[in-house]
Amino acid sequence: MARPGHHGLVIASNRLPVRLTVANGSFEVQRSVGGLSAALGAMRGDATWIGWPGAVVPPALQKRVSRRLAKDNLYPVFLSADEEEDFYGRVCNDTLWPLFHYFSERLRITPEAWARYVEVNERYADVILEHCEPDARVWVHDFHLMLVPEMLRKRAPDLSIGFFLHIPFPSSEIYRLLPAREELLRGVLGADYVSFQVGDYARHFRSSCLRILGVDSEPDWLDLDGRRVGIGVDPIGIDIAGFREVLADPETERHLADLERQYEGRRLILGVERLDYTKGIPQKLHAFERFLEQDPERAQTTSMIQVVVPSRLESPEYRAQRDEIELLIARINGRFARPGVTPVEYMHRDISKPALVALYRRADVMMVTALRDGMNLVAQEFVLCQSEPGLPSRWRGALLLSELAGSAQVLPGALLVNPWNVDGVVDHLVTALELPTRDRRRRLEAMAKRVESLDSRRWAEGFLTRLGRHSRRDRRTRRPPTVDATLEARIRRKFVRARARTIVLDYDGTLREFELHPDLAQPTPEIRKLLRDLAALPATDVHIVSGRRRRNLEQWFGRLPVHLCAEHGYVARAPGGEWRTLVDLDLSWLRPIERLLRRVAADVPGAHVERKSCSVAWHYRQADREYGSWRARELLNDLSQHLAGAPAEILLGRQVVEVRAQGVNKGLYVQGLFPNGKEATHFVLGLGDDRTDHDLLDALPSGSVAGHVGGLLPSTRSDGSRDDVHIVGPGEVRAFLRDLASAMEPAATEPPPA
Ligand code: UDP
Ligand code: G6P
Repeated sequence: MARPGHHGLVIASNRLPVRLTVANGSFEVQRSVGGLSAALGAMRGDATWIGWPGAVVPPALQKRVSRRLAKDNLYPVFLSADEEEDFYGRVCNDTLWPLFHYFSERLRITPEAWARYVEVNERYADVILEHCEPDARVWVHDFHLMLVPEMLRKRAPDLSIGFFLHIPFPSSEIYRLLPAREELLRGVLGADYVSFQVGDYARHFRSSCLRILGVDSEPDWLDLDGRRVGIGVDPIGIDIAGFREVLADPETERHLADLERQYEGRRLILGVERLDYTKGIPQKLHAFERFLEQDPERAQTTSMIQVVVPSRLESPEYRAQRDEIELLIARINGRFARPGVTPVEYMHRDISKPALVALYRRADVMMVTALRDGMNLVAQEFVLCQSEPGLPSRWRGALLLSELAGSAQVLPGALLVNPWNVDGVVDHLVTALELPTRDRRRRLEAMAKRVESLDSRRWAEGFLTRLGRHSRRDRRTRRPPTVDATLEARIRRKFVRARARTIVLDYDGTLREFELHPDLAQPTPEIRKLLRDLAALPATDVHIVSGRRRRNLEQWFGRLPVHLCAEHGYVARAPGGEWRTLVDLDLSWLRPIERLLRRVAADVPGAHVERKSCSVAWHYRQADREYGSWRARELLNDLSQHLAGAPAEILLGRQVVEVRAQGVNKGLYVQGLFPNGKEATHFVLGLGDDRTDHDLLDALPSGSVAGHVGGLLPSTRSDGSRDDVHIVGPGEVRAFLRDLASAMEPAATEPPPA
């Protein structure tokens, strides 16, 4: 259980902020490396933290480890060596990491490793649930745990769950290469609030949701399965108070004095990275080599220190990267070293905070040439360490920063480079070294303000505030309850016992799944049999109320004993009867609007126009999803202008914009079915899946069952006098109807109630 005083906050990340080294039956605890743990470190003590301790802990030692970590409110998820290899190695580090950083040819995923990812995510969800109260807030971090939000949601629907991705979310063109692309999106969308480092990543995420799940979104939310999920952008910052402490530490001053002595009269270029091929360290070294080639005398006045923090060396890709870096450094030093001068000094280790801060303070140029980076905190740390008062050599440096790092979007005073353009990087390096003191200071001051505002504590508060807002909003807009077992049993009982039954069904998206083209969505033999079985029940009327043309319905259902209503309520017929129109209409606007829609359809590959007797529809299900929705929005604008005053209305369905004569809607037809007023005198069931079905459901008499299919929420006009149920999709609708039909069989022998 979450401890009192910890505000019921549970943090889950793959790695705890500490890592263990285990040897000879005992263990040591050290701090973890990397941006996530650096930024979240500020929150230690405020929250219960769940994560992997970074080593295989033999079962005999696990109890002791747990006891030791619990003192700091840390709770371990232990992984076996095999799990480490498959989950952490193959899926996280060698598939999700490269793919999300646009290294799409490096994926090492296998179906077995993916199964392990699912298993380990389940384990995290177990441990999280062991440590939280039902009303806790759970904050899940990063690409290792993308399935956890959905797993938690299933098991504890009222938990407030946030998800933050520390790394980039790639373009949907890259993301779609992932075999488990759909599962991961659904996993993340179990959260109430999902947030990213910068706006581009949020945009890519929305685009993947649209293209892969078919779920359209607004810039800050989307609806999935009747739940509303907030989408946001929360650029992460550094632990400013923590850095200030290190800046004030005498140890830092000693390191700085050593550096001043060692590099007296020399310009110092600094690189600090975790060993990773995404960081562009070879590209940086190539640029430095070119810089020295242009004028070998530069080696006499300029040095580079490259800190490479060991990371993920179990992976062949990382070992290859280390070897490449070491070869390059050896080559540069071989070419340009002079007695007493080593052009590149290489530190392949995790250095102490005071040593790191002293380096940041002494550097003349900080070089960050990442090929992709979610944020890059090193850049922010450099800015802060250069700008704080106290130590000598303030406002000394310039920041050369890759435009492909998230931090490029938050640090306005950096010299931005494309790391692949070696000559461009060299030019900017020269500019950075020659930048007048006044300019360096001006740039650093501008950036220091931003760094201060991004402070990791403020970042966490901002995230949690938005999480709170979105959790509350979701609870308010939550869909009606799914047909749970008790409700379903009650509906079944009512159905069986009723004197008579009326079933009103929308077709597309309710009874039948959508297809790319409307003509492909014919009723299957299963649907035809289901309709026939329902209509054959005693005193049972089945109505199909659709937006489709009468020709369509006639062709598909003409021989079945069901009532048909076409074109959203314009024409209808009883089983075997004649079609009749339900209203008289002025259709003078129809031709010009049809011409407009045809013009727009000609510009949008895949879009087509469907002309009906009192409406015309522009379908874009087959068009590019994003371009299609954008043109649809534009079209809405144009249409309202063209229609000004005409007796017509615009309907927005799923991937269709339809203009229809006013006074026609499915509700009109439904009202006609119950001339005796608003109270149902027998069993009435209505089912629909899109906004045009709100008219249908709202016109049902009170006491009916109103089934909302897919993500459809009850309309604002819904007066609560009906049993609102949510049904996941057409498959579930059919199962539900079949169940009702078969419930009647044993009951047929029961005498009807008096
Ligand atoms: N860092 C570290 N040990 C070191 C040098 C640096 O832990 O020897 C820290 C550094 O201070 C920074 C983090 O590692 O906070 C790197 O974060 P960044 O966002 O730059 O990259 P990531 O590791 O997240 O890819
Ligand atoms: C990045 C990731 C973190 C990860 C860190 C270190 O910052 O976003 O989730 O913890 O790298 O990597 P490691 O594999 O050692 O945890």
